[in-house]
Amino acid sequence: MMNKSKLTAMSLVIALFLVSCAKNKVSIDKTTQKVSQLMAKMTLEEKIGQLNLRGTSSRVKGALPEALKQAVRDGKIGAFLNVMNKSFVAELQKIAVEESPNGIPLLFSRDVIHGFKTIFPIPLGLAASWDVEVAESSSRVAAIEASSYGVRWTFAPMLDIARDSRWGRIAESPGEDPFLAAQLAKAYVNGFQGDRLSDPTSLIACAKHFIGYGAAIGGRDYNTATINKELLQNIYMPPFKAAIDAGAQTVMTAFNEINGIPASGDKKLLTGILRKQLGFDGFVVSDWNSITEMIPHGFAANEKHAAEIAINAGLDMEMTSASYEKHLKELINEGKITIKQLDFLVANILRVKFRMNLFENPFVPEEHTGNLYAPKHLELAKKAAIKSTVLLKNNNNMLPLNKTRTVAIIGPLANKPREQLGTWSFDGDKNHTVTPVTAFTKENRSFHFVEGLNYSRDRSSKNFKKAIAVAEKSDVVLFFGGEEAILSGEAHSRADISLPGAQEQLIKALAKTGKPIVLIIMAGRPISLSNIIHEVDAVIMAWHPGTMGGSALHDILYGDAEPGGRLPVTWVKTAGQLPLFYNHKNTGRPAKPSEFVHIDSIPIGAWQSSLGNTSHYLDAGYTPHFPFGYGLGYTKFAYSNLKMSSKKMTDKESLTVRVTVKNTGDRTGEDLVQLYVQDLVGSITRPVKELKGFQRVSLEPGAQTEVEFKISVEDLKYYNSDLTYGVEPGEFNIWVGPHSATGLKSSFRYE
Ligand code: BGC
Repeated sequence: MMNKSKLTAMSLVIALFLVSCAKNKVSIDKTTQKVSQLMAKMTLEEKIGQLNLRGTSSRVKGALPEALKQAVRDGKIGAFLNVMNKSFVAELQKIAVEESPNGIPLLFSRDVIHGFKTIFPIPLGLAASWDVEVAESSSRVAAIEASSYGVRWTFAPMLDIARDSRWGRIAESPGEDPFLAAQLAKAYVNGFQGDRLSDPTSLIACAKHFIGYGAAIGGRDYNTATINKELLQNIYMPPFKAAIDAGAQTVMTAFNEINGIPASGDKKLLTGILRKQLGFDGFVVSDWNSITEMIPHGFAANEKHAAEIAINAGLDMEMTSASYEKHLKELINEGKITIKQLDFLVANILRVKFRMNLFENPFVPEEHTGNLYAPKHLELAKKAAIKSTVLLKNNNNMLPLNKTRTVAIIGPLANKPREQLGTWSFDGDKNHTVTPVTAFTKENRSFHFVEGLNYSRDRSSKNFKKAIAVAEKSDVVLFFGGEEAILSGEAHSRADISLPGAQEQLIKALAKTGKPIVLIIMAGRPISLSNIIHEVDAVIMAWHPGTMGGSALHDILYGDAEPGGRLPVTWVKTAGQLPLFYNHKNTGRPAKPSEFVHIDSIPIGAWQSSLGNTSHYLDAGYTPHFPFGYGLGYTKFAYSNLKMSSKKMTDKESLTVRVTVKNTGDRTGEDLVQLYVQDLVGSITRPVKELKGFQRVSLEPGAQTEVEFKISVEDLKYYNSDLTYGVEPGEFNIWVGPHSATGLKSSFRYE
């Protein structure tokens, strides 16, 4: 046995060795060793091959093209996307590991965004759940299902902060808030990747799109983004940081330029921020052709130049375009790119393949069926849809519905199994979808059903009469409207975000019957409701709720479940207010009710003056229709007794904030208690409010609880104009409440 002093001496030697390793950057990591041993055997062509991400069409029928197989045999392809035929996956992998020069396994990828077969609510819907467990379990299920097809890499989570509902990809986003988005980012990465990257059900995650894609001017997809460096760090970076801290293995560059430099060619971003600041050690993939798109951007002269820029920036793998494949060798021969640079990119990719244990286990284990549409998966999808659904209006407690009332189901999304799955649901089979109509039928509810409009953009009023007739013989109208799946998502931005087609006209016609109307919206973005909200008694936002959406909505409508969602984005009255977000700056003339002069109140012939007006629109005002964080439940909650452990905070001590929340209604219910902070004076101006915590409480009627939050120094830190990350002494306000526009207020001082 070793005695204690020997042990201590040995620990010291080990400790010194580790310190010297760290200092000298000597890696003792086995993976690194394996990577260098392998790379020593690889030819230049094979190395370049690892940087190629190639697609096949999901629709390839018959046999795989010979040329493609030969390219794999020659080691010219490192990864594939969209090979959705299991036998093709197996065939290509077999060629790679058995016939290519060094047997390097391929990595198969897919956009598994909100489910694979079992489809969960769109990401903006999942964000509305404010529920990290839901985010994690939904991505775990997606990973289990997708990996059974050989997919081991998903292009998710999408982490673009989105402040503009016109942008079609807001549907895929975590919403407008960096704090909430960061919590979700971590949950998604954990869910997709699982406990071990080497597990056959693990999908490596891809934090995308790095970065600023959501800041596209005017919400037009792919558009220019201008983001100053502080904003980039304070608003757009936190979810990416969270994903990388959680171990996300890949990052995808954005299509857009930021401040004049396309993200795929931005060295400061891809090397400075991503690798150095965030410590990312996985690999970076371009977006679809985003390297060669630097040519139309006006940043690269030609393909070869584009490849040179992207490599110099630190972009490891090229998706679909082939500028690396075609020009890298030449760039190396010309000395424009060094072998050392190439080796860095290749090593980044191989490291991830080793971590995934793909060399040992390149194939899908036979027993791995993915449990597609397993009852457990469907149950989770239903739970996620319930938690994501936001109740926006509920006049006279119209909801939950009285079970004895006769219902008219009307609207273009009441029975559209494909549409309710939403954007990026390629693999979801609509035959498994439970629509509202199928759910009501399954539950034996008596209802009349007339669509009234065939699809969401339908402008024809030819079926209005039939719809009105069923409304007349019913006690209540459930109108399922919104947007078809194709109206949001990539390249599907809208300038007018109200209900498309003749939906508003139909709702108005139905309102004339005098029957109460519940409007249930399925859409990829907040919908402007100004023209019709007064015509309806209740409004539910279901987003595109996925496979089990109908079932979830049935239970919500009848009160067997409570709508759990809260808005992850500000809901505007009209698109003209966009971009509108709760964590804005104050301006020198902050908008307030006392200063607001409506357009109709301006005297005719008024003399040129500001009329006391402040930062607002004369017509739409300055408030949104529904604020960030908003959502009703089926009971009421009262907040009281806001207490703080101290009115002063220092580096050493965090503050404890407590508030009493009481269920003052007559049903058991849940509320989402939210904590916001405002830094009153900063060396750069600070947002009027910032979310810093949230907690869900569930209480029986009359019951109350004390909810406790901790505010630490870390919560108050931000990047100022020197990019110093820290907290500055001064006054802070805090609010605790049910959404961003209200709450009990207090303040403290940081010294
Ligand atoms: C999208 C990415 C997606 C990729 C692969 C691109 O058009 O911007 O988000 O992952 O296609 O399908």
